Parts: sequence; C-alpha cells; structure tokens
Amino acid sequence: MSYSLKAQKVIKDNHLKINNYSKTLDLYLTSDDFNALLIDEYAKINYVFKQDFFKKTNILLEKNYTAEQINYIFEYLSDSNIDKLLTIDYVDILPFCQIPNLDVLKIPAYLDYQKKENIALKDAVTFVNLHLDTNFYENVETIKNPDDILVLVNKYHALDSNYVPNDLVYISNTSYKMRKEAAINLESLIARASLDNRKLAPFSAYRSYEYQKNLYENYLKKDGLELVDSYSARPGHSEHQTGLACDIKSFGYIDNVSDSDYLWLLNNAYLDGFIIRYLKDKSYITGYKEEPWHLRYVGKEAAKIIKEENITFDEYYDLYVIKR
Ligand code: DAL
Ligand code: ZN
Repeated sequence: MSYSLKAQKVIKDNHLKINNYSKTLDLYLTSDDFNALLIDEYAKINYVFKQDFFKKTNILLEKNYTAEQINYIFEYLSDSNIDKLLTIDYVDILPFCQIPNLDVLKIPAYLDYQKKENIALKDAVTFVNLHLDTNFYENVETIKNPDDILVLVNKYHALDSNYVPNDLVYISNTSYKMRKEAAINLESLIARASLDNRKLAPFSAYRSYEYQKNLYENYLKKDGLELVDSYSARPGHSEHQTGLACDIKSFGYIDNVSDSDYLWLLNNAYLDGFIIRYLKDKSYITGYKEEPWHLRYVGKEAAKIIKEENITFDEYYDLYVIKR
C-alpha cells in the first residue's frame, strides 16, 4: 500500500520506520491520535468505520489489548459494550466476544458464576443476566414496559400494583379476560384443538394485583412460604396480571390438562403464539414447579424460537429482546 502524501510527510518528519503497511496505519498517520510508539500495532488492526475509532484503539492498546483482540472487539462487540470495555481494567475478552447477550461490566460475575456452577460460559452469561446468581425475589426491578407483548414478569421483575392492561376482552364463551391479541389467538388455539377432537377451556386468565394478592396469601396460610413460592407468584410477579397468560384445562378436568392434550400443546401451542411457560426441567430458571396448564402468549415469532431452542421465556427475553 502506498501512503497518502500527508502520511508520507509525517513518516519523513518523524523518521519513522514502517515494517507493515495497512489502511489503519495510513489513516492513523494523518489523525491527531497518532502515537509513534504504537505504530507496529496500528498496522495489524483492521480499520472499521466507527466514531472515535482511533481514540478507542489507542485506549485499548494502552490497556495492553493486542491487535488481534482489538480486531475481535470491533468485529463482535456492540458499541455500548466497547464503550464499557474502555472504562474497566484489562479482561480476557476473546472467550466472550461472540456471546450475543454479553454485558461487559458483568464479566467478573459471569466468571464467578461459571466457576461455582461449572457450566458453559454462554449459560453463565445468560443466567447472571437473569439474576440467577442472586436469590429469587432479591433485587426486584419494577417493569417499565408492562404493555409490551414480550414483557418479562418473573421473580426478579414486578408489575406495578396499579397496572391494569387497557385492552382486556372476554375470551369468547367464557367469563375470563385476556388482552385482545392474546384472546383472539387463544380462541384460534382452542379451535385448532377442537379440529383434533380436543376440548380445551380456560379456567383462569387475567388476574388483578389484588386478586393475586388474596390468592397468594390464602395459599401461604395453607402451605407456608417455601411451598407456596414454588407454585404461586407473589402479587405483582404473576403473568396473569399482564392479561397475556391463561390456565387451560382439558374436558372433564378441573384445573389441568390431560397428558395427551399436554403433548398436543407442546407441539402446537406455538402456532398461535403461545408457550408453556413453566416446564419441568426449567424450575431452576423460572422458580416454579412444572405447570402444564399455564400458557403465555408471546406472539408467533417468539413462540417458534422458544420451542425450537427449548429455552424459557426468561432466556428468550435476555437473548432476543434486550438490546445491548
Ligand atoms: N402459578 C403462576 C406461577 C402464577 O401464580 O402466576
Ligand atoms: Zn397460570
């Protein structure tokens, strides 16, 4: 590569010896951020068009990141993660670069959790992001997007006690309400089931904060804290308050689905945008025992991915909804 005239002048005036040629070096030579001591490293860095590229690579080089690491950082990390990386001491970043839900500031917590639980790094990232390194109901955040179809309600994220969805409608032929989009799709799911000679019906859907509070407190009196927390959400923490959840039963059952209908739901609910929210082998993430009857509306796109990847909605939210 031949240098620009301006760069050639800088090289000559500074008596610089150039071992490698690169576009980055050429551009650096003409920028205010040029540092002659770093010349060989510049030559190995792939230029990418980003704001303050030169300033940022200088900071990373000063923190002892190699050119190879810097190339990965600019190729894979989001701008906000790069900015965070500039504020902290050197970390071994390469194992994290291709993890999409990485939050650079949590790297020490990821490493601690991975060591403690002996799990894959990518799982440690997701689980720490979901706060599984702290106890359920510790560090509870109030939900800021309660009207989103993809709202995450769990033991770490609570709805405001005053939150009531503004588009609740009756599920046809029932006394139960859901948000309109969820109700329409539930009706479609029930119709789809009946084409297959399955009779499904809701037995609970939208529940207000107050209703959930009474429910939880009655269960608490009966079963005690540990047991009740394994099957009932504390007020503010129930998906039923979003109007997007529905408990469904098979014909002849009071509050459950038959094994056969459950299997059918596992294979078909996603076609109408529903997931079975609390699966047996996912209690360590959801904090609840298996609930074959509890459906959550998330929309068709999310439901399909959740089914295909066999992940919980909590994981889906962290991997696909949050932008980092
Ligand atoms: N049974 C579910 C977890 C609820 O109370 O919302
Ligand atoms: Zn439920």
